[in-house]
Amino acid sequence: MDLARPANLGAVAATHLETERLLPRPFCEGDFEDLCALFADPDVMQFVGHGVRDCQVTRRSLRRMMRHWQRHGFGLWALSPKASGQFVGRCGVGYLHELKDAELAYALARPFCGQGLATETVRRTLQHAFEDLRLPRVIGVARPENVASQKVMVKAGMTFRRRCRCDSIEAVMYSIGRSA
Ligand SMILES: CC(C)(COP(=O)(O)OP(=O)(O)OC[C@H]1O[C@@H](n2cnc3c(N)ncnc32)[C@H](O)[C@@H]1OP(=O)(O)O)[C@@H](O)C(=O)NCCC(=O)NCCS
Repeated sequence: MDLARPANLGAVAATHLETERLLPRPFCEGDFEDLCALFADPDVMQFVGHGVRDCQVTRRSLRRMMRHWQRHGFGLWALSPKASGQFVGRCGVGYLHELKDAELAYALARPFCGQGLATETVRRTLQHAFEDLRLPRVIGVARPENVASQKVMVKAGMTFRRRCRCDSIEAVMYSIGRSA
């Protein structure tokens, strides 16, 4: 697939995934309050974009994620444990306009961190990206000081590529190709 002009992959994209402990599904309007709480947490947002987001900005983020699903047929998943409907966070692949690439993104609410859930979901997301969406490559961008995020990418098989700037922020880039 030419990632300079990503196609709508709706025909091949799954609407739900499954990991050992989680049931990822596309975001919907009903996720607004949970997403507001996630994006308002300074610990979660310390290394994400430009930091905490208020409800107005979160509303725009949610709409953007939902539009991305409609346009491209893939996007970021809302995560819930299989055993309950709780909101765990988000994970998935989005089209990064600035770098013309498919970018992995993830953020978990604090009670769910430190249990291997990010690694579990990122592995499943990458499998979906390569086997179902047939993406040629997925990149991940993190702040250099975000050690936990970089560990997740390495544990999922990604490799450090280079330092870069993303949205005017100093970052490190990891990637993985379909052949890997
Ligand atoms: C980054 C994040 C997704 C990790 O989620 P998680 O479910 O705790 O991740 P995992 O348990 O799968 O793995 C995390 C690894 O980082 C390690 N780690 C966690 N915090 C760390 C820290 N401050 N310094 C060094 N290592 C750390 C863990 O020990 C684990 O490594 P291990 O398996 O070798 O022990 C989660 O902390 C988060 O949502 N952070 C806020 C949002 C964010 O930064 N998103 C990424 C933007 S690029």
